[in-house]
Amino acid sequence: MTSPVVRTLQAVDIPGAAAALVEVHATDGYPVEGVRQPEDWINSPAVDHAWVAEIGRRIVGHVAVMRPQGEDAVALWQRQRGTEDIRVGVLARLYVTRAARGNAVGEALMRAAMAYAQQRTMRLVLDVMTKDTAAIRLYERLGWHPIGQATHHYGDNQRIAAVCYVSPAG
Ligand SMILES: CC(C)(COP(=O)(O)OP(=O)(O)OC[C@H]1O[C@@H](n2cnc3c(N)ncnc32)[C@H](O)[C@@H]1OP(=O)(O)O)[C@@H](O)C(=O)NCCC(=O)NCCS
Repeated sequence: MTSPVVRTLQAVDIPGAAAALVEVHATDGYPVEGVRQPEDWINSPAVDHAWVAEIGRRIVGHVAVMRPQGEDAVALWQRQRGTEDIRVGVLARLYVTRAARGNAVGEALMRAAMAYAQQRTMRLVLDVMTKDTAAIRLYERLGWHPIGQATHHYGDNQRIAAVCYVSPAG
């Protein structure tokens, strides 16, 4: 396989990242909310910084660091630290198309986001649904720590169990 290249998402990448997201939703049901407007979902105003992974000229993966918007994971981390006065980013929207998996593309995307946060002395938090076991293995392999549980609400009163993590210190 040609090596993946991870780089900052640019406007021109949005259709490719959206196509990859639609593919991941079909294979994995991620995100549970569905992908009615995939380009808007990727191009959210809450995005601080985002990256894509490309193999050849095809976008096969994506991750974002988002500005906090009242997530349970942020509240849990602030509570554990005993202060709201800490720099926190929310790692979100990680996905890799099924054909590209098992080649450390997910890991490379995570490392890009973690390096970005580290340069800004920012801790990252995330929540992951307990059903997304490959993602949980990846986070734990990279040293993320569980900080509590959450319930993800979506659709018409639907809910699904999730667990929150914080990125490793330093
Ligand atoms: C989670 C996800 C992003 C992981 O992507 P990925 O590119 O397969 O991740 P990696 O390749 O870094 O790691 C996956 C596995 O491949 C293994 N691997 C990586 N490179 C390898 C290599 N060169 N040779 C053999 N195995 C390798 C890893 O050890 C890991 O094994 P494990 O799952 O048994 O622990 C992907 O499964 C996905 O998109 N899932 C659906 C969406 C989702 O759940 N997103 C998370 C939302 S919170």
